[in-house]
Amino acid sequence: LHNGLSRTPAMGWNNWNSLYCDVSESLLLDTSQILIDSGLRDVGYQYVVLDDCWSDGRDEAGRWRADADKFPHGMKYISDSLHARGLLYGMYSSAGELTCGRYAGSLDHEKEDAQSLADWGVDYFKYDNCYNLGRMGTAKLSFDRYNTMAQALLDTGREIVYSICNWGEDYVHSWGMSIANSWRISGDIYDSFARPDPICSCTDERDPHCIAPGSACSVLFILNRVAAYSDRGRPGAWNDLDMLEVGQGGMTDEEYKAHFSMWAMVKSPLLLGHDLRTMTAKTLSIINNPAIIALNQDPLGSPAIRIARNESVPKDGFGVGETHVWSGTLANGDQVVALLNAADADLPISISLEEIFVRAGPGGRAAQTKQEWLVYDLWANRMSETHAHAILDAADDAAREAVFRSVNWYNATEL
Ligand code: GLA
Repeated sequence: LHNGLSRTPAMGWNNWNSLYCDVSESLLLDTSQILIDSGLRDVGYQYVVLDDCWSDGRDEAGRWRADADKFPHGMKYISDSLHARGLLYGMYSSAGELTCGRYAGSLDHEKEDAQSLADWGVDYFKYDNCYNLGRMGTAKLSFDRYNTMAQALLDTGREIVYSICNWGEDYVHSWGMSIANSWRISGDIYDSFARPDPICSCTDERDPHCIAPGSACSVLFILNRVAAYSDRGRPGAWNDLDMLEVGQGGMTDEEYKAHFSMWAMVKSPLLLGHDLRTMTAKTLSIINNPAIIALNQDPLGSPAIRIARNESVPKDGFGVGETHVWSGTLANGDQVVALLNAADADLPISISLEEIFVRAGPGGRAAQTKQEWLVYDLWANRMSETHAHAILDAADDAAREAVFRSVNWYNATEL
């Protein structure tokens, strides 16, 4: 959406993944203080997003009311407090009669609700898909619902990032970019890297009965979903792979590094999902990696695409695992490559430089393979010991998290 906003993917925090409906004024204000004290605000995490369960219906005039027990000073007080701390405020509703948690939704109330958001000083708006009164099942039905709100937001004149959450349904990846700053591509993320069960298996976007395509999608499931259209992302309009699970406890630290790296590669919004009040130093060291953040926020805004997938590798007790290679171009002409090992064994992943550049290089220029490339390891935060020649090889556990970047090495220190 060309509203001038989100020229790079939004970064911030959202309470849903860890706290669900346990929301309050003190939660938001305490979290905002932690964002500042931990340095996370200053590396880019700006949006504090309140998800579902905040409202108390409508007053006689039809205006939204915040729950006065949870938010004793109202919503404007929250946005004023966040703004005073150099942060931005996000809120949530559904393009339905009710939200997913059965609170008042905004379908057929778009104008007054958009005005409430503007009056409350909101900077980011997540718009869900529950209780949509059957107004879904075709691209047009969904587009119309989401577009009505898009226009209402624009009409307020306030700068509000618009985030569509219709779980990838109704071909949102083909129309979301025209009316929104991001669009979810799947059902809700689950705190597992490669959960082998089929809970997120209702995936056919053409199936009108597939109302919520799964509700527990693993990191790998979401990556495989976005692989079909990661290139739809661009400045102002991003595929949204859902809030992060880093720090929630269901994955190993190596898996969290891979999860975070891949969201950065594909240029998803980076919304932290864990409870910051109990954050460990290890979690902080993953989500504040400046090189990975710079990759996500690269001004070219060109998402990585998947250029190789090997599905026939052994996976602990569950048939097959898989490895991927993803690559994309950065604003300064560098090429980023992720070798993703989603299997449970140490596996070699090989790709030729020629293939990287033909498939994912700027303009598909094979000539670049003739150059010698320096390899910078974004997790080790140093130059790799060997320069890249014809083949990049990674044969150990590090493959899972290895994100290489060829650089003029003095640039790397600026990351
Ligand atoms: C849906 C969304 C989630 C969250 C919940 C809130 O499931 O996909 O991200 O907003 O609703 O109820």
